[in-house]
Amino acid sequence: MTVEATSHQSGAEASKARRVRGAKVITTLKEMRLTVERWRRNGKTVALVPTMGALHEGHLSLIREARKSCDRVIVSLFVNPLQFGAGEDFGEYPRDFKRDHRLLTAEKADALFAPAAEELYPEGFDTRVVVGDRLTQTLCGLSRPTHFIGVATVVTKLISLTRPHQVYFGQKDFQQTLVARRLVADLNLGCEVMVLPTVRETDGLAKSTRNVYLSQEERLAAPGIYQALKLAEGMLQVGERNPQDLIEAVRKRLRNETAIEIEYIAAKNAETLEDLNILTGNVLVAVAVRLGRVRLIDNVVVSVPAGS
Ligand code: PAJ
Repeated sequence: MTVEATSHQSGAEASKARRVRGAKVITTLKEMRLTVERWRRNGKTVALVPTMGALHEGHLSLIREARKSCDRVIVSLFVNPLQFGAGEDFGEYPRDFKRDHRLLTAEKADALFAPAAEELYPEGFDTRVVVGDRLTQTLCGLSRPTHFIGVATVVTKLISLTRPHQVYFGQKDFQQTLVARRLVADLNLGCEVMVLPTVRETDGLAKSTRNVYLSQEERLAAPGIYQALKLAEGMLQVGERNPQDLIEAVRKRLRNETAIEIEYIAAKNAETLEDLNILTGNVLVAVAVRLGRVRLIDNVVVSVPAGS
């Protein structure tokens, strides 16, 4: 394996990690398949937690939950080139294999699956998984039109390879959870999609790998995102049913933070991502903003009983 050989870590680091005690590092599809086959033959239940590494408490919450529910937990670490658009941060996405390995060992993950890009996408690879426009060409899909093709393709490959009973996602990437649910159902992938709440800093900012890029000024402004979402939640709870008025209130709150540039604010049906004329049912309030060069997303889902 060459140093360039993995999307996530240097080959030397991966080989060294393989020799030290800790979460078992698997880099080949063959070993991953055989490992899962053995577990399944022995009647073990298997969970998959797909990540791009640079692990934080948000990722760890998924792993802890998976640990409680299944006998074996696989955490994949793969910075997926397919889901980054031109000019996005694929090259500079944080990578720290040693730290991730240490954290996964502490969480008692059974396997850390860190394939090389060429292992998942060998020469000649030419298939994409495309979930329909209704879920993918709205919200984040508008500014990142090929993003969910990359996500759907890698998630499908990871699930087919690891054949988990359960696959874990975080609510922070809400649209991604709907894409995952859709493809698992449509392609009969036979696993349960688990979605866990967003883990936040004490000031409300959603934990995110990209938070490390925020300047001091941007970091101070960033909690305004969740405050704006909480404002929307409060308005829904006291009877606001007009989407334009809700969105306008969120916009006004976000404008208090001069460092924040709004990409979108949306209030939608949380199952279908359709626009709502009247805010009822499970209402998704989602925002994407830019703070300098950092793009952040966040959301809340509020259950509004019909006729209330
Ligand atoms: P990544 O951004 O590494 O996130 C991995 C998982 O952690 C996702 O399901 C994401 O929603 C969840 N997560 C991130 N921040 C969280 C937080 N603050 N609280 C709870 N969960 C959080 O999302 C991806 O990677 C990729 O698109 C992937 C699914 C791995 C496909 O490449």
